[in-house]
Amino acid sequence: MYGLPRRSRALVMGLILFFIGATMYLKSENLAAAAPLQAYYPHSGIRLERSEVKFRADAIKEAYQHSWDGYMEFGFPKDELLPMSKRGGNSMSGWGASVIDGIGTAVLMELPEVVEEQLKFIAEIDYTKCEHQISLFETTIRYLGGMISAYDLLTGPYSDLMEAGKDQKNHHLVHTLLRQSVALADALKFSFNTTSGIPMPFFMLDSKRIKSDDINNIAGIGTLVLEWTRLSDLTGDPQYTTLAQRAQEYLLKVENPEIGEPFPGLLGTNVGLRDGKFLDSYGGWGAMGDSYYEYLIKMYVYDPRRFRRYMQRWVQAADSTMTYLTSVPATTPPSNFVFVGEYSHGRSIALRGSHLACFIGGNFLLGGQMLDNMKYNIYGLQLVDGCRATYANSRSGIGPERFGWDPNLVPSNQKEFFEKNGWYYGGEIDYRLRPEVIESYYHAWVVTKDDKYRQWAWEAFLAINRTCRTEHGFTSVSDTSREDGGRKDDKQESFWFAEVLKYLFLIFNEEGIQFKEKIGFVPGERQKWVFNTEAHPIRIY
Ligand SMILES: *[C@@H]1O[C@H](CO)[C@@H](O)[C@H](O)[C@H]1NC(C)=O
Ligand SMILES: *[C@@H]1O[C@H](CO)[C@@H](O)[C@H](O)[C@H]1NC(C)=O
Repeated sequence: MYGLPRRSRALVMGLILFFIGATMYLKSENLAAAAPLQAYYPHSGIRLERSEVKFRADAIKEAYQHSWDGYMEFGFPKDELLPMSKRGGNSMSGWGASVIDGIGTAVLMELPEVVEEQLKFIAEIDYTKCEHQISLFETTIRYLGGMISAYDLLTGPYSDLMEAGKDQKNHHLVHTLLRQSVALADALKFSFNTTSGIPMPFFMLDSKRIKSDDINNIAGIGTLVLEWTRLSDLTGDPQYTTLAQRAQEYLLKVENPEIGEPFPGLLGTNVGLRDGKFLDSYGGWGAMGDSYYEYLIKMYVYDPRRFRRYMQRWVQAADSTMTYLTSVPATTPPSNFVFVGEYSHGRSIALRGSHLACFIGGNFLLGGQMLDNMKYNIYGLQLVDGCRATYANSRSGIGPERFGWDPNLVPSNQKEFFEKNGWYYGGEIDYRLRPEVIESYYHAWVVTKDDKYRQWAWEAFLAINRTCRTEHGFTSVSDTSREDGGRKDDKQESFWFAEVLKYLFLIFNEEGIQFKEKIGFVPGERQKWVFNTEAHPIRIY
C-alpha cells in the first residue's frame, strides 16, 4: 500500500461507514417507528443489580454533600467555590449562583436541611442590586431557571419535602421562589428595549443604558424563551414570554438568509441588535449556537400547541446537520460513531468538536422520541458513541474541552493516537466540570434502558472523583490527556451542582422523579417535564 497514506485509507473507510450509515437512515425513514430501536441498535446485555444502582446513587449524593459543604465553608455567599485557594468567586453576578443552581438537585436528592438553607437564602436576595456585569443568558438559565424549577418541583411532586413536620414558614419560603423569579425578570427586562427587540447580552443593572449598536449571538437570543415563557404561564402575565418570543422571531425567520442561514435551519452566529440581521455565516452545535437548537425542540415538548413552528425549525436544523455536518472518523478497529463538524464561511466544514456540543446526542434522542422518528434516535445514539470515545480513549477517563478529527491537521505527536481512536486533542484539553457527555448518556439510557449508558456514566463519575476531587469540593483540571488530570484549576462551577450531579443522580435513581412523575421520557407517554439547558426540570404546560 506504499503511496496510499494511512489517512487516505482512513478516509475511504470513513466514506464506506458513512454510506452504511446513510442507507440505514434512509431505510429507517421509511420504517419510522415500525421497528423498535433495538432492531437498529441492539441492547448490550449489560444489566446492573438494584443494590449496585442504589450504591451509586448514594455515592453521587455524597459528592453533592461534599461539594456543598466546601462551598458553604469557603465560598458562600459568593457565586462559586474556588476549592484550591479556599475562597469564593463571583463569576455569575454575585447573587450566590451555586445556591440557586444547586437547589433543584438537592430537592431531587431529598436533602431537606440543605434545601431549607437554600430557600432561606434565596428569599433574601435583592435582585435590584448588582455591582457586576450581568449576562442575560447565564442569569436566565442559572438563576431564573433554577428558581422556577425549584418552584415547580416543590409545589409538585416534592411538595412534601419541606412540609413534613414543619410549620407554615417553609410553605411560605417555597412561594418566595416565584416572587423572586418575577423580581429578577423585572430587573432584567429593560435589556430587551433595543431597536430590534433583541436583548443586549451584557449590561450593568444600575446604569440601565441601552446599547443598540451591540451584537448578540443565537444562543444568547434563543435560550431565554423556555424560562421567560414558564414565568408568564405561572404568573398569568404575558409580558415575559412576549419579550422572549419577539427576539426569537429573528431566528425563526432570518431576515438575511444569504448570510444568516448557510444551510436550511442552521444559522450563523452573531446578530445585530439594531436590525436583527445576521453578521456572519459560521456556527454549529458548539458554544454560542448550541442551546438555540436545543430549545427549539424543547419548546415543542413544553407546549406543542404554541410552539409547533419551533419544532419545524428544529427538524430543519436536525436534517441539515445529518446531511451536511456528519463526519465518520476511521478507527482501528472500525466503530460506527459519528461526529458533527462546525461550519465556517463558504459552507466549508471544520472537523472539530467540543465538550459543549456533546449534548447533541441527547437532544437528537429527545427529538426522536418526541416526534416518534427512528432516524433521530439512531443518529443520536451514534453521536453519543462519538462523545463517549473522547472519554474512553482519554488517559484521565474524561474528554477534553476541544477535539478534532481532521486527518490533515493531526498534531505530529498524536498521529498514532488519532489512527487508533479517530480523534485527537485539539487546543483546549482541560475539563471544567461540564455535563454534556453525561447528559447525553442520561437521555440514551432513558430511551434505550440499556445499562451500558449507566456504566459509562459511572466510569465518568469515578474518573472525575479521582481527578477533580479536592479536600473541600471539586475543581476543574488542566489536562485530560494525563492520568491525573494535570493541574487543579481552582473552580467549582455552579453547573457542577445543577447539571453533572443531577444527571448522574437521575441515571442511578429508579425510585426518583422519572418514575414518580416521569421526568425522563417514557416511550408512549407524554412527557411531564423538560430540562432547561442548565438541567433544571421545568414542568410542561
Ligand atoms: C425603552 O426605551 C425608550 C427610549 O428608547 C424609553 O422611552 C422607554 O422608557 C424604555 N422602556 C423601558 C421599559 O425601559
Ligand atoms: C470518591 O473519592 C473519595 C476520596 O478519594 C473516596 O473516599 C470515595 O470512595 C470515592 N467514591 C467512589 C464511589 O469511588
